[in-house]
Amino acid sequence: MDKSYKVFLNEKDIPRQWYNLAADLPGTLNPPLGPDGNPVSPDMLAPVFPMNLIEQEVSTQRWIDIPEGVLELLYRWRPSPLVRARHLEKALNTPARIYYKNESVSPAGSHKPNTAVAQAWYNKEFGVKKLVTETGAGQWGTALAFACSLLGLECKVFMVRISFDQKPYRKLMMHAYGANCVASPSNETQAGRDILEKYPDTPGSLGIAISEAIEEAVSEPGGKARYSLGSVLNHVMLHQTIIGLEAKKQLALVNEKKVDVVIGCAGGGSNFAGISFPFVSDKIHGADIDIIPVEPASCPTLTRAPFHYDHGDTAEMTPLLAMHSLGHGFIPPPIHAGGLRYHGISPLISHSVNEGLMRPEALQQLECYEAALLFAQTEGLIVAPETSHAVAQTIREAYRAREEGKEKVILFNLSGHGFLDLTGYEKYLNGELTNHSLSDEDLNRFTESLKKYPAPKTSKVQTG
Ligand SMILES: Cc1ncc(COP(=O)(O)O)c(C=O)c1O
Repeated sequence: MDKSYKVFLNEKDIPRQWYNLAADLPGTLNPPLGPDGNPVSPDMLAPVFPMNLIEQEVSTQRWIDIPEGVLELLYRWRPSPLVRARHLEKALNTPARIYYKNESVSPAGSHKPNTAVAQAWYNKEFGVKKLVTETGAGQWGTALAFACSLLGLECKVFMVRISFDQKPYRKLMMHAYGANCVASPSNETQAGRDILEKYPDTPGSLGIAISEAIEEAVSEPGGKARYSLGSVLNHVMLHQTIIGLEAKKQLALVNEKKVDVVIGCAGGGSNFAGISFPFVSDKIHGADIDIIPVEPASCPTLTRAPFHYDHGDTAEMTPLLAMHSLGHGFIPPPIHAGGLRYHGISPLISHSVNEGLMRPEALQQLECYEAALLFAQTEGLIVAPETSHAVAQTIREAYRAREEGKEKVILFNLSGHGFLDLTGYEKYLNGELTNHSLSDEDLNRFTESLKKYPAPKTSKVQTG
């Protein structure tokens, strides 16, 4: 019997292609729509993204080669370890075998650099000189700042006000990588000024920060800048599949032939897509796998929000995407899992949920922090508050395996460490945090705006 704690892949065995779930999903995906209600053409996206990434965004090719130049950037920390959480298993007295993919080992401390280095590389190839983005918890901004520094690109980050105030060290990391980071809403864009005029004390939101970043990217003189998004879009999900593809190879090294449960926390959906999409492919082809995206009860996009066309940002600058959405005017409560506060989620994940390929869950923050502390006290690592949602669901599934008396294999994605999120832990330990669920009243109020957009056509499920 295998006694490993950690499973490493040789660098030479790193996956050389990304997996594109769009090639295998049943049903027809609803295309992004432009302001006239017609599908957007690649040319319409050209001021915002470089054409080589737009091609990936619309691709239905199953496997896409990872360029050698991107692999060389990824080798700085990849392949990431797969770890068997034996100490947690023992504490839970479960027959389940729990594995986690440790994405906290990247220089920025999370999975986000997997797509940041790829996006920066493709932009550089296309001749772009500056990337502009938004960040919620600060992880994505740090990742893009890191990637731009490796490739000599200028980087500007609009950081959601509440995180900017709560996480000064993330801002400092971005500065250390040479990026410029400002609080959003800011006075530097029309979108920011409009919001500040209406709501001077707003904590900000990812939707507002996205509007600001797109505005700045498209108004840069000479078309030298582009916008970069850290989640939600198809090409971002694609870049993250290296996580699940590596995990499959590592599980094979320790003779695990079947995975029963795959878990990841879900904000815009990228780390969850990364760990799960290669397994969704197996499920489409007949495997029996429970695939669980986990979100906060205060921002219940997949579990309660309608499936509808909506903008990805507050100022309505992005195309309309078919996704589960709480409405682009959603202002989330200031829970500590900043990266899970987005109003929408990846269209590929939304479609997979509608097709019954995934089983979303929504958890309260107190259960998540309690789970994160047990994880820290057994396995040792203090995880990001976002990741704590995956840990809490893993613990639920391990208990379920115990009740059922089944030796299940559970795989979860450890999307990031929490070393710069200790304020949340402090509040939890001081008893200052409470549970919070989105009320039906607020859900109805925020989703009212969706009615003016077309309903997606082809999905089996119309509401969350
Ligand atoms: C550590 C960590 N995990 C998860 C997320 C959620 O993003 P996504 O759903 O795109 O993986 C974030 C976002 O900032 C994050 O920082």
